Amino acid sequence: MKMDNAKDQNTVTLDRRRDISQNPLCLSGKGVTRVFGTGRRQMTAVDHVDFEFRKGELVSIVGESGSGKTTLSRMLLGLLSTSDGEIWFEGKPRDISTRAKKRQYWKNIQAIFQDPFSSFNVFHKIDDVLLDCIRMTGGRDLPKEKKTELMTQACSFVNLKFEELTNKYPFELSGGQMQRLMIARIFLLKPRILLADEPTSMIDACSRATILDMLLNLRDEIGMTVIFITHDIGLAYYISDTVYIMEHGKFVEHGSADEVILSPKAPYTKRLISDVPKIHEAWDLSTVEG
Ligand SMILES: Nc1ncnc2c1ncn2[C@@H]1O[C@H](COP(=O)(O)OP(=O)(O)OP(=O)(O)O)[C@@H](O)[C@H]1O
Ligand SMILES: [Mg+2]
Repeated sequence: MKMDNAKDQNTVTLDRRRDISQNPLCLSGKGVTRVFGTGRRQMTAVDHVDFEFRKGELVSIVGESGSGKTTLSRMLLGLLSTSDGEIWFEGKPRDISTRAKKRQYWKNIQAIFQDPFSSFNVFHKIDDVLLDCIRMTGGRDLPKEKKTELMTQACSFVNLKFEELTNKYPFELSGGQMQRLMIARIFLLKPRILLADEPTSMIDACSRATILDMLLNLRDEIGMTVIFITHDIGLAYYISDTVYIMEHGKFVEHGSADEVILSPKAPYTKRLISDVPKIHEAWDLSTVEG
């Protein structure tokens, strides 16, 4: 895929870990569980997990396919009910018992999914996608010029040109442009929490680095908590403040990225790390061809 508009890759630095241990709690959970099916077909996809994610924290949840990452993210998003346990948002039990409360919660949490094309209504033009974000954040009555200014600003944050996107439909964009448009949406929505479920897996390593760089800029700019879900422990090491390792629905280990990756305790973590030949070099971008 062509790296249109992306900045020089050698300037991208993903290593921006910070100490967030004193920040207030943003999202936390105790005993969070999800069981699917009944009787003999019953299976526990997420099994009594505890977590504490702080404001501005970049957390990675790492685990192999089927370990329960997406199931957990759907519960965090309030798209799937929990079978057991409690989720707390900003120090209070999360209440999404009514439609109105759910809608209120969704102002605070946004998601980026594996396939950017699945996230957009194909019949909505790009302008409508962005205008929706402005409306959702209370900008419905802003003058047209102000709305255009906000959309232009959001696009330029992700190196897209609004003039080139106006009147286009999502399917007229490349995969990389779509990913960036998703980040432009987040720029406008400014949620407290962003949940990114392998957002970069379908694009090449170069654009992947650029997208991650943009996500990290956004985290720094608006102080949002980023929950990053991935199979890639090398990448998680590089970008995260904190890493949670998930195996068969359980968190087998968590801690600062350095603690977990440089001195792993769980055999599962050790195995994931041994699968990455040179973890420190896994994200040496100078070796990526531009
Ligand atoms: N709606 C569902 N009904 C029944 N089982 C489900 C459902 N959703 C997920 N599962 C099962 O729960 C387990 C965890 O799935 P999940 O999608 O959360 O894994 P994952 O860690 O996101 O995997 P991947 O890395 O492949 O995306 C799997 O065994 C899956 O088959
Ligand atoms: Mg998944």
